[in-house]
Amino acid sequence: MAKKQTRRTFLKSLIGGTLAVFGIGAGGYFYAREIEPNLLDVQTHIIAHSLIPGQFDGTRIVQFSDTHLGFQYPLEQLKRLAQKINSLKPDMIIFSGDLMDEPNKYDTAHAIVPILKGLHAPLGKFSIYGNHDHGGYGTNLYKTIMDESGFQTLVNENVALTRNGQSIYLAGIDDAMLGKPDIKASANGIPTGAYKILLSHAPDLADDAIEHGFHFQLSGHSHGGQIKIPFFGALVKPPFAEKYHEGFYTIAGEVPLTLYVNRGLGTTRLPFRFMSKPELTVFTLKIPTE
Ligand SMILES: [Fe+2]
Repeated sequence: MAKKQTRRTFLKSLIGGTLAVFGIGAGGYFYAREIEPNLLDVQTHIIAHSLIPGQFDGTRIVQFSDTHLGFQYPLEQLKRLAQKINSLKPDMIIFSGDLMDEPNKYDTAHAIVPILKGLHAPLGKFSIYGNHDHGGYGTNLYKTIMDESGFQTLVNENVALTRNGQSIYLAGIDDAMLGKPDIKASANGIPTGAYKILLSHAPDLADDAIEHGFHFQLSGHSHGGQIKIPFFGALVKPPFAEKYHEGFYTIAGEVPLTLYVNRGLGTTRLPFRFMSKPELTVFTLKIPTE
């Protein structure tokens, strides 16, 4: 514990020092510690693709990611988030990993279920593992919480989502850092010609996903860098989010892949966010107009 405090104090002064060097100063420190982590940026995007079936035109997918529940992201904040998600009237809800910051130290895990259970989406609620869900012996706890909350956790598998006889496919893989991701297995049995979405906590796996014909990949993990330095960019890019760390990317291939990297909601290591506001994202599927 003492060791951790030391490291935390060290990181704190390092970040404080870095912000000072770039002229952000005490006001910026206060902002990054107290203000920005509590903001919420609701991003809305249209995803148009010729393979999206007519029955899915206008389907709303809400993605939330990286809550890192703990002292930095209390349950009250999760409750407000859940109200916001429901107010967006999603057809489908995606959680892209990192529920609790340190599962083995989180003593109010039982209180998460009623909040997540209250999320409504007629096409279903789906989740995947993030590195923090496996870390701290969290693997079974995370699965249980998500099961009891009505989320289906996809681990190297896929589901068909069907509306009036037309389907799209949603696959999910295990976490790249602490799990055993298998993109090939996750795509098993998906018919050719179907619209395929992949959920991967780690964005950089998009370079492998392109080999398996996915059209759209939803990721988190990067926190958008969590702290950005003006004219420099993200201070920290974690492993598997070094190449792709925020927003949209198009990965060229036989079947081009659209990757979206969500900045997530919480914080890890230190409770700071700067120029990387917490994000909630709404995607609307559309049939292209021409
Ligand atoms: Fe995370």
